[in-house]
Amino acid sequence: MRKKLVAGNWKMNKNVVETRELLSALASGLDSVGGAERALCPPFTSLFVAAEALTGTGIGLGAQNMHWEEKGAFTGEISPSMVKEFCAYVILGHSERRMYFGETDETVNKKLLAAQKADLTPVVCVGETLAQYEAGETRQVVVEQIRAGLQGVAPEFAPRIVVAYEPIWAIGTGKASSAENAQAVHGEMIRPTLSELFGEEAAQAIRILYGGSVNAANAADFFAQPDIDGALVGGASLKADEFIAIAKAAAE
Ligand code: 13P
Repeated sequence: MRKKLVAGNWKMNKNVVETRELLSALASGLDSVGGAERALCPPFTSLFVAAEALTGTGIGLGAQNMHWEEKGAFTGEISPSMVKEFCAYVILGHSERRMYFGETDETVNKKLLAAQKADLTPVVCVGETLAQYEAGETRQVVVEQIRAGLQGVAPEFAPRIVVAYEPIWAIGTGKASSAENAQAVHGEMIRPTLSELFGEEAAQAIRILYGGSVNAANAADFFAQPDIDGALVGGASLKADEFIAIAKAAAE
């Protein structure tokens, strides 16, 4: 049985003061939802205070990105060991990073191998654009992102990987994928590709999250699908009540 994971991606929201406020609103409600794994991914500048605030809770912390190199002349970047000081998780290859900051399957792969080395749980994002969806290219796009992004991983690390299917047309639009469509992508495209890469046992252990306009009202539909193992939540993770409700739905 795969334990569901609900992760909040705060994106570029919340300074330190606001982080403290949101965490105190989230803490008790989220801490008690032990049936699902919970993680929060605030901006880098909030990781230190968030790590302090979450100590002793069952809530994990993640970064939204990192560089693959360990140190050196990479102005503005954060290394895997810097992330590891605070975090257990790291989001890699989010579509916003691919769209606005030039991330490719190749850089995602370097970062994934760096996460493996740093003992971080990676949440690798894949997903097609609206044009690709409308052209019926979802399978081709997602399979290629998985094959190229996840190559070269050690067999013992593979089950630790978390994949997040985030169709770009559903992100921040309020137009979530249907649960059936997401299930088809997870169960008929992503998991078989993981099986090809790592074998069936590892593929069955890997969590595949859905992301894109998940909220308290639609979360349970997604979680009822056999191959949807949790959610990567953007906008709704900034609202304590919504996010706690989503985590509760995952725990049921
Ligand atoms: P929304 O939940 O705001 O659509 O964002 C999804 C997302 O990109 C999470 O990484």
